[in-house]
Amino acid sequence: MYQQVAFDVSKIRKDFPALHQEVNGKSLVYLDNAATSQKPQAVIDSILKYYTTINSNVHRGVHSLSRQATEAFEEARKHFQRFINAEHAREVIITKGATDSINLVAHSFGSAYLKEGSEVIISALEHHANIVPWQVICEQKGARLRVIPLTENSEIDLEVFASMLNEKTAIVAIGHISNALGVINPVKEIIRLSHNNNVPVMIDGAQGIVHENVDVQDLDCDFYCFSSHKFYGPMGVGILYGKEKFLEKMPPYQTGGEMIESVTFDKTTYNELPFKFETGTPNVADVIGFDAAISYIENIGMEEIMAYENELLAHGISTLKNIDGVRILADGAPKAGVISFLIDDIHPFDAGTIIDKLGIAVRTGHHCAQPVMDLLKIPGSVRASLAFYNTTEEIDRLHEAIKIVKQMFG
Ligand code: ALA
Repeated sequence: MYQQVAFDVSKIRKDFPALHQEVNGKSLVYLDNAATSQKPQAVIDSILKYYTTINSNVHRGVHSLSRQATEAFEEARKHFQRFINAEHAREVIITKGATDSINLVAHSFGSAYLKEGSEVIISALEHHANIVPWQVICEQKGARLRVIPLTENSEIDLEVFASMLNEKTAIVAIGHISNALGVINPVKEIIRLSHNNNVPVMIDGAQGIVHENVDVQDLDCDFYCFSSHKFYGPMGVGILYGKEKFLEKMPPYQTGGEMIESVTFDKTTYNELPFKFETGTPNVADVIGFDAAISYIENIGMEEIMAYENELLAHGISTLKNIDGVRILADGAPKAGVISFLIDDIHPFDAGTIIDKLGIAVRTGHHCAQPVMDLLKIPGSVRASLAFYNTTEEIDRLHEAIKIVKQMFG
């Protein structure tokens, strides 16, 4: 449907209005894309268009605006389905974000499938959003949360993982790409090993969808989730893909309007998929905005984006490694989109504050992944996270900024 264009970063940058501003008197270098990405004008325009034309509630009214809004909303769902190659649109649940999606699976799958003594496996690399919901449901059900250790290179230890799977394992929940270190996890192998033991797998794709071609049928994952806002779409929207065979057996996560078939004071029956999991009025404008973001990405092409980002990452790693005293975390592990590093023994917060004064946005701290920082025995790191609108010149500005940090603390 969309004509692919050749990758031209200076042309692409023109589509992102927020990139063209000064911060602290310097032209902005935005390297905090793993926290949230900037939005192309096409996304901003689509939200404006929605609110200035067809704004109305979905799945409820017979009037024209409501029908148009419903159609746009359901077309967006079908677009998300095609983008991740889900078999059915009813397997695509619209949520508030990846965290909301994981909570849905933890609580709904957990209530149907976890019992006293069950085991849930996560890895030591996880974001808090893929730790805490499982901790809570395990506590409620008397189940045990088990954590796959990492190798010296901060990669998931597959051998140990294989030995952890057993008849008590109820689900494996793993991030596709670590937001804190950028490590790409061997999710296909994890899924294969788990399925050999009849264990379903949920993939937290908050970073994965941004930097990889995701085909849920090829992966054969049982659940896959991600957020719009990290993927050039608006905040407050996420996707949960789930295999119908599990979603059908799982109880609703939240209850109220929209997710019902009929309500009496004696009994409520639930709506069919996907609506059983979509309570209340959804964030229609931003779902339509996310639809526009996916169109924008398709227009450039995921393959082109991945190739460009990999070049940028390689340039970034080699440039930063050239600076005496810079230590890149998980160096040598397969990575995408993220350079997480330390500068001598300078506290990441101090380094980040100076880097910000130079107009460069990086994230500092534990990146919502405290356990992996504890494991590495560091208070946190400085994280430069890349998007396809970043340039090698911007990486070079970061290089100069790090040298200034070193001088100041030297
Ligand atoms: N999870 C987001 C990050 O990595 C907020 O920065």
